[in-house]
Amino acid sequence: MTFDVPNDSRLRSPDFLFGVATAAYQVEGAAREGGRTPSIWDTFCRQPGRVLNGDTGDVACEHYHRWPEDLDLVQDLGFDAYRLSISWPRVMPRRGEVNPEGLRFYEQIIDGLVERDVKPIVTLYHWDLPQYLDNRGGWVNRETAYAFAEFADVVTAALGNRVEAYATLNEPWCSAFLGYELGVHAPGLKEPRLAYQAAHHLLLAHGLALPAMRHNAPQSRHGLVLNFTPSFPATERYDDQAMALLQDAINGHWFLEPVLEGRYPSLVTRFRPESTPVVYPGDMDIISRPIDFLGVNYYTRSLVTHDQDGEAREVRVENAQRTSMDWEVYPHGLYRLLTDLDRQYHLPPLMVTENGAAVTETVEDDGIHDDLRCDYYNRHLQAVDQAIRDGVNITGYFAWSLLDNFEWAEGYSQRFGLVYVDYDSQERIRKRSATLFREFMAERQSAG
Ligand code: NOJ
Repeated sequence: MTFDVPNDSRLRSPDFLFGVATAAYQVEGAAREGGRTPSIWDTFCRQPGRVLNGDTGDVACEHYHRWPEDLDLVQDLGFDAYRLSISWPRVMPRRGEVNPEGLRFYEQIIDGLVERDVKPIVTLYHWDLPQYLDNRGGWVNRETAYAFAEFADVVTAALGNRVEAYATLNEPWCSAFLGYELGVHAPGLKEPRLAYQAAHHLLLAHGLALPAMRHNAPQSRHGLVLNFTPSFPATERYDDQAMALLQDAINGHWFLEPVLEGRYPSLVTRFRPESTPVVYPGDMDIISRPIDFLGVNYYTRSLVTHDQDGEAREVRVENAQRTSMDWEVYPHGLYRLLTDLDRQYHLPPLMVTENGAAVTETVEDDGIHDDLRCDYYNRHLQAVDQAIRDGVNITGYFAWSLLDNFEWAEGYSQRFGLVYVDYDSQERIRKRSATLFREFMAERQSAG
């Protein structure tokens, strides 16, 4: 069995990048080794009630020590590319100080990937802000954007052109809104105004970092990764349709429009005027510096209605198939998202940088059966194929994730891996979905 992707699909062509992703804090562990200092997630995990079961990333998948075995897995599964992130406090444990041991760790991984003929894709910031920067206000402090540009310079100077593509940020919406408005991610604040300011500084950080990145790695591609949960109106009513548009404007477009067009969406500045951040002259020019690719992360959609207070209310779709995160499985949302973005913007090439499902699975004698995940991937790959056929320029697709790992506020309770991790023994066991990808990759190779 393999994925039901047509034989003439671009997904099968050798220049389409098929990969698998992880992020530093979610897999590395070794929180106190190699000169690393704490990030906001180390602090957050230690605050009672923040993370399910009090889980932390202290040990995670021990990827810091087991990386050769994990890279072998990526190679054996046949992926073209591996997307990883860099732990900022491992590389810069104190402001202005570079830790050679931290840099060496990532250099080894990059070399290890190149040796295995796997293309490295590097995300510079996947949520683990150094605690020393949070002590000075974190992303609400404009200075953090400049500190990020220094960090990006240090990393790209060391890794250079060996990296196929660099993303400055992963899902800045989550950093800003989950971290500063909803309080469910580090640093755990509940101040909506701060969230918009944090978002602005994240975007500024992205733009400030680009010139040094291009200088240090002129042959790599440079871009960023955004998350989208496209909103659909629960009814045909005008109010619900308007609410769906507003939700999308706050979510994806709040980040994409400044990057591609140099302005914030007027829908938000008009209907949520209190959210407008402090913007210095020249900021929007920095934020809208050209990018070579846009990473799109997609998991599910949201169905919204309009309540009496003018707020969005989530509607639950009855009888829908759901993952163990309780997220609706909705492949058509990915198709709609990709084609809508293409209609609305002059886009750089897109890569689907994350897509996947958490599933409750059991380890049986004959392996780990994760049928829902297999079906999820099958249907989402078909959605990507259809979007390409309808004219969207998509050049890559990454499954989230290689391994089960630390799922932020959900701790280790949610398993997204193609490969199962037994956290007691750290044994890696391939799930059926891993085998399915392996078969598909082998088919692509033999056809190419
Ligand atoms: C998005 C994030 O980038 C990643 O860290 C997370 O584990 C997945 N989504 C699943 O929630």
